[in-house]
Amino acid sequence: MKMNMFGLFNKKKSDTVSLPYTTDIHSHIIPGIDDGSPDVEHSVALVKQMQEWGVKRIITTPHVTEETFENTPETITAAYNLLKEALGEDAPEIIFSAEYRMDENFLKHVKNDILIPLPGNHILIENSFLQPFWDLKGLIYQLQLKGFNPILAHPERYAYYYDEKEIYTDIYNSGCMFQLNWLSLAGYYGKETRNIAYWLIEKGYVDFLGTDLHNRRHARAITEFLQTKEYRKLVEKLNLKNDTLK
Ligand SMILES: [Fe+2]
Repeated sequence: MKMNMFGLFNKKKSDTVSLPYTTDIHSHIIPGIDDGSPDVEHSVALVKQMQEWGVKRIITTPHVTEETFENTPETITAAYNLLKEALGEDAPEIIFSAEYRMDENFLKHVKNDILIPLPGNHILIENSFLQPFWDLKGLIYQLQLKGFNPILAHPERYAYYYDEKEIYTDIYNSGCMFQLNWLSLAGYYGKETRNIAYWLIEKGYVDFLGTDLHNRRHARAITEFLQTKEYRKLVEKLNLKNDTLK
């Protein structure tokens, strides 16, 4: 009897390795077009991993960044098709959007109306890690005027905001939603980032969580985190909109 109970307990523990949503909105799994998956084989492995976490719909978001990854709808579509061809029939639904670095290149995309939004006209934007975009609130307003709903990617990773946290309130109140990374909560980017991530959750500023999955190393770190007590406790506090994106 004791053995059975122990067996049940173990089974329950392994069942918890899934994300608390079925729609992931931030990843770099399209092969060879940014600093994410380098090739189709790697991409297929990352997709399988996401499936194991219970993800059924992947809205993947390759970088669009001036000088480093100047992707366009054409470059993304071509690489996306390679991945689709390589995936079997049991693959989850995969659609693509982009993670737009706020820079001059992005302003051109906005002006020329070639943005690729997430469902519901959401646009995933990111700051550089060295300095914030020079007119973040102005740009948020400009996007809203065009009918877009901006989502700031991983606000917890911008270290230059840590000493002036009221900026988060200011940005959030301007109508920009926030998407946190699981890796931040797992401590992958360090203690300070993790603390800010928890602070943002406590403030109620977190609309979405995302894997921001680039590679197998990220996948391992997320899987490990999903097995912790900390994760199980945290999930109860979250009120995520991931599965409402239509
Ligand atoms: Fe990203």
